[in-house]
Amino acid sequence: MSRLFLSPPDVGPRERELLLDAFDSNWIAPLGPHVDAFEREFADFVGVGHAAALSSGTAALHLALMLLGVGAGDDVLVPSLTFAATANAVTYVGARPVFVDSEWATWNLDPALVEEELAARFHEGREQPAAVIAVDLYGQCADYDPILKSCAAYGVPVIEDAAEALGATYHGRPAGSFGALNVFSFNGNKIITTSGGGMLAGDDPSPIERARHLSTQARDPAPHYEHSEIGFNYRMSNLLAALGRAQLEGLPAKVQRRREVNAAYRTAFTDRPDIGFLPNAPEGEPTNWLTVITLDDPTPVREHLASLDIEARPAWKPMHLQPVFADCPMRGGAVADEIFRRGLCLPSGSSMTDADVQRVVEAVRASLP
Ligand SMILES: Cc1ncc(COP(=O)(O)O)c(C=O)c1O
Repeated sequence: MSRLFLSPPDVGPRERELLLDAFDSNWIAPLGPHVDAFEREFADFVGVGHAAALSSGTAALHLALMLLGVGAGDDVLVPSLTFAATANAVTYVGARPVFVDSEWATWNLDPALVEEELAARFHEGREQPAAVIAVDLYGQCADYDPILKSCAAYGVPVIEDAAEALGATYHGRPAGSFGALNVFSFNGNKIITTSGGGMLAGDDPSPIERARHLSTQARDPAPHYEHSEIGFNYRMSNLLAALGRAQLEGLPAKVQRRREVNAAYRTAFTDRPDIGFLPNAPEGEPTNWLTVITLDDPTPVREHLASLDIEARPAWKPMHLQPVFADCPMRGGAVADEIFRRGLCLPSGSSMTDADVQRVVEAVRASLP
């Protein structure tokens, strides 16, 4: 039996066709017609005005922080329960992540703790954070109504890290349309992939235009190479944008399949009260990028699955428990701790067959008392 991966790429003939089109056109560069078209099609899909195609989601986070003027000495609120890239980007601009715990309803940034942190700073006369980054973990939107309300009240801009949530909605509105700037990833394990890539999106055209400038070495208009500020090599290549366009065409079907896989796991374990799930919150429709179960002790289950060539992975280790962020402040923490202790991500890819899901279900059952 072949190895079952957590979230492998799901590509087909359309990807091959557009990739070859890019290849044959000789636009083999970090610019070209597929880059322009991917940006336009992506912005339309997400319902934002503009998008800049970049080399990774991490690059998009870095530029988002720069474009909002976040810099040395600033604090940025970040959920502790996330992938390290969210917090790493804060340090790239010389700022400090201030971690906030999750809420049980979505496993995302707890809106009550965000309000608590901003109100405490206000009452103590301390400076507000330069930004709040909200992450849509495992394909589910954070609870944006209260988060945006608190941030607006204290004048703090929000960046949405929708790296895991392309295709999700919150009150009917697409993930990646809630922040002043919004970040997406097309890493190989994401819901759509360009092997590696990312997007920065927003309604205001000027930061997105500036992102294009900064991501191509900040070259000023001149016949020679003229630079008046520091730039980056962060632009997406035309070959990868071609791949991204084909993946975007297939996105609704991929989201649908991930939801079916999630529903199949839920149905299969209805008789097991010892198995919990990341809740599907009623405010929106998640993509179920990864199905995450909770168990008293996930380690023997993960090890048994590994022995059967089935990849499963612990939930994200919270940032406040990471040695590299040991000096950063943390508000709360019990929820993220427990999710890390009990969470296990199961194979969730959109190319999974019903038989694949059954294979995982049987393996999980066999490993439980
Ligand atoms: C929540 C989150 N933010 C940011 C990233 C970074 O994206 P990339 O790998 O494209 O740099 C990822 C995934 O890789 C992620 O899961």
